[in-house]
Amino acid sequence: MRRYRRPGIRRLLAETHLRPEHLIAPLFVDETIRRPAPLSALPGQDRLPLSALPSVAGELRDLGIGAVLLFGIPARKDAEASSASDPDGIIPRALHTIRDEVPDLTLITDVCACEYTDHGHCGILGQVKGRTELLNDASLDLMARIALSHADAGADIVAPSCMLDGVVLTLRDALDDGGHDDVLIMSYSSKFASHLYGPFREAAGSGCQEGDRSGYQLPVGNAREALMESALDAAEGADILMVKPAGYYLDLIPALRVHGLPVAAFQVSGEYAMIRAAAAQGWLPERETVLETLSCIRRAGADLVITYFARQAAGWLREEQ
Ligand code: PBG
Ligand code: ZN
Repeated sequence: MRRYRRPGIRRLLAETHLRPEHLIAPLFVDETIRRPAPLSALPGQDRLPLSALPSVAGELRDLGIGAVLLFGIPARKDAEASSASDPDGIIPRALHTIRDEVPDLTLITDVCACEYTDHGHCGILGQVKGRTELLNDASLDLMARIALSHADAGADIVAPSCMLDGVVLTLRDALDDGGHDDVLIMSYSSKFASHLYGPFREAAGSGCQEGDRSGYQLPVGNAREALMESALDAAEGADILMVKPAGYYLDLIPALRVHGLPVAAFQVSGEYAMIRAAAAQGWLPERETVLETLSCIRRAGADLVITYFARQAAGWLREEQ
């Protein structure tokens, strides 16, 4: 076997390639600030005002990044997430701003309510048999309005992350009826109730005031149930499936490929924070560790990797060319 490990041969026989176009960079756009604000739980990432978007998006485009994934932080939150579907809300304005300045960058938006609700849940709450629950069908209408407001403002891909039953079908119908049959749906199809989202929730101020997301996100030990979730989304018309988180859930990535659809994996905020923290202590070499984790996610079968390391990794990959 060691014949294969000689330098030129190793390169010749590489099975996995990681390139900037495989990477998707999440961006937090904050309606309430005028200057970039560092995120303490995601060191190296900022909340961005609209005015910062052209330069950030331009840099990512120049690095050859595949796409950006936009998360909005609104000025107002309420129980119904009213600001989430506002055509003048933070995400539509962000889309227009980037589209005007960096027209060739692919734009993906997160479609969920938790950044816009005061209770922090991913849709509308109501009473079901005496319990407070996330209302499925009432929340579907909201998701359709959110997705339409994004598509109207120029989103290329909408990414529902709410884990509501039937959301993909609802969005497909709403987009087609709204004249957006060219807009793709990247479903967060197999999304687990993970504690690795902690830094994100601090960043987006989207933690639950009461209860948790176990009523809609997947139990972490259930692989077959995760496959069912993705199979349903594929049948409902999803264009891209997703596994989230990525690194500890690699087993699901090849399993989702049976549908023939592109598969994305989301290296989530906690996965980022752990590597950053260890690297800051000098316990891990950051560049090598990051490129290793991203390559492993690709090796498992992910076509696309959503990662907060996208900008850095794309820069490192360019240097290696
Ligand atoms: C919103 C959403 C979350 C993430 C992506 N979209 C948070 C959650 O479900 O609580 C997690 C991203 C991350 O941790 O990096 N539904
Ligand atoms: Zn949510």
